[in-house]
Amino acid sequence: MRKILVSGGSGYIGSHTVVELQQSGFEVLIVDDLSNSKKEILHKIETITNQLPEFVELDLKDEVAIAHLFQSYEIDAVIHFAASKSVGESVVNPLLYYHNNLLSMLNLLKAMEASDVTSFVFSSSCTVYGQPDHLPVTEQTPTKPAESPYGNTKKICEDILKDYAHANSEFNGMSLRYFNPVGAHPSGSIGERPSGVPNNLIPYLLETVAGVREKLSVFGSDYGTPDGTAIRDYIHVVDLAQAHVIAVQRQLDQKNKSNYEVFNLGSGHGYSVLEVIKAFEKVNQEKVNYELVDRRPGDIEKIYADTTYANEELGWSAKLGIEEMMRSAWQWQQNLNKES
Ligand code: NAD
Ligand code: WQD
Repeated sequence: MRKILVSGGSGYIGSHTVVELQQSGFEVLIVDDLSNSKKEILHKIETITNQLPEFVELDLKDEVAIAHLFQSYEIDAVIHFAASKSVGESVVNPLLYYHNNLLSMLNLLKAMEASDVTSFVFSSSCTVYGQPDHLPVTEQTPTKPAESPYGNTKKICEDILKDYAHANSEFNGMSLRYFNPVGAHPSGSIGERPSGVPNNLIPYLLETVAGVREKLSVFGSDYGTPDGTAIRDYIHVVDLAQAHVIAVQRQLDQKNKSNYEVFNLGSGHGYSVLEVIKAFEKVNQEKVNYELVDRRPGDIEKIYADTTYANEELGWSAKLGIEEMMRSAWQWQQNLNKES
């Protein structure tokens, strides 16, 4: 059985990917420092797949520890989710972001090189496009100087991977540019667990409807969009997780077209903030208490993906629509409420 090292595998997207990997016959080794996740997730994953994933608690900034790990396990491929991911926090504390996000990836690549592990899938983000001039965005859309230190770390990591692949023909790297991942596993057992006050739309909306927050602020109603609110490409986390299984299998089967590939992973549809709220209210029969407020500094007006390349090359497309995203997200939030 092939063993995949999943860094950040106890986090939101990582945990969903671990489920899909196990269900596709892969063995998984999760490496996470639990800085933004909890160890209980391992048992939640087990309730879905009947397999407890192997877990090593380790900070990827620790070069010696990660090198040692590669000597102790036979690893076939790496999916690298681990990173700090709050845009706002990165503006306040850029060094934390450059230190964690860059060093973690460099340490992983060095340890892989020493152990002859050559498959590497990287969690990138649509943030690398900034506000593009033309929509939808393809993989050829120019990446712009990022809007935040966080976004800049994604761009720099992509550049490092490209250069490294150029210098090492036996290495296979892939950057997956996620659009806005939302929703939760249909089992209701795993989902996103924001710590503190959520920054992102869906977690804030969920906590508002659950009564934890009083009101959702809709940031900006004067954008150049049909209803004035900003447009994003939301993608169900289970669809996203499945794309990772395909990506890693492609590399292991050596079906990749070049030794550094980039794919957009989105649904290809843009929804405004008000459309998201309406979809939530419709499928869940719950009212969202919201008010229109000023734009959030740094936000872009609209973005959505052209997913043709992923559709054709990976044979992957997002299957779950906005209603399923909202239904599963609310189911997850209700389960969280029961837990606490
Ligand atoms: P998450 O915070 O839920 O998961 C990241 C995991 O990495 C956490 O479990 C955290 O404990 C771990 N981690 C962080 N630094 C580490 C370190 N030094 N050593 C070991 N573990 C470490 O985040 P997520 O939403 O699942 O995001 C996963 C990846 O996808 C990240 O790279 C993120 O930047 C990227 N991404 C996320 C989104 C999004 O909206 N969620 C969008 C685009 C890209
Ligand atoms: C979505 C829309 C907000 C909260 C961020 C990162 C990006 C990527 C995905 C990692 C926007 C609006 C939000 C709220 C609102 N992450 N909103 N009220 O900003 O598209 O992207 O996450 O790579 O890098 O920047 O996601 O969920 O914060 O916002 O009206 O309380 O919802 O203005 O239009 P965003 P988001």
